[in-house]
Amino acid sequence: MSDDSRPTPASARTAAVIPAAGRGVRLGPGAPKALRALSGTPMLIHAVRALAASRAVSLVVVVAPPDGAAEVKSLLDAHALPDRTDFLVVPGGDSRQESVRLGLDALPPEYDIVLVHDAARPLVPVDTVDAVIEAVREGAPAVVPALPLADTVKEVEPAAVPGDPEPVVATPERARLRAVQTPQGFDRATLVRAHETVEDDVTDDAGMVERLGLTVVAVPGHEEAFKVTRPLDLVLAEAVLARRRLNDGF
Ligand code: C5P
Repeated sequence: MSDDSRPTPASARTAAVIPAAGRGVRLGPGAPKALRALSGTPMLIHAVRALAASRAVSLVVVVAPPDGAAEVKSLLDAHALPDRTDFLVVPGGDSRQESVRLGLDALPPEYDIVLVHDAARPLVPVDTVDAVIEAVREGAPAVVPALPLADTVKEVEPAAVPGDPEPVVATPERARLRAVQTPQGFDRATLVRAHETVEDDVTDDAGMVERLGLTVVAVPGHEEAFKVTRPLDLVLAEAVLARRRLNDGF
């Protein structure tokens, strides 16, 4: 591990922040993405349960659509969630980055480890959550779950008009690339500093910690931690849930 490493005491408490304030336009028209149902239960409730399934997580902060905090609060009240986990709901912002920052602002002081998890990844297995927490406890300031890529990736010069041919400018070596998921785990002070100092648009929180010059480590992700983005992802999510129900039945 790098010089940034600093083991966190075993007593460190873990909170999860779930940004759920996005509209999810790529999924098609309808309710905000996090509130859409999977097997009859809102995606957000699946995501909250997935994080609360970890015995290490004692608080979940849900960042709701700016005008939907009351609705999200009553959803959480209406669904069975573990007694040992506390819940808070705060209104979100215009960007994912701002929503995460608003979630961090709401964290009580006693939490030293923070997970940030997309509501749009409702089916992450608890073992992945625990592996991320463990790596932070062992001293990494930032941890991402990541998977090798099936596709070869090309860097292109993006076309001005979507759909026009795009010149390829580079082909990164696939074996060195990873697709990054959530929950991403952080030493709380590091993540707060990243959100205070990094102003560039980044698509994940670990990217902000990289901008601070700190080492981010990747641990194995899981294919069921995929992000529900497009209509086909809803079909896949329903299939995963159906398989889990079958397996639970035996
Ligand atoms: O849009 P994308 O799929 O990247 O969003 C990832 C997560 O960030 C989703 O859970 C979404 O609800 C959340 N988000 C947010 N606030 C925004 C935009 C996105 O909490 N303004």
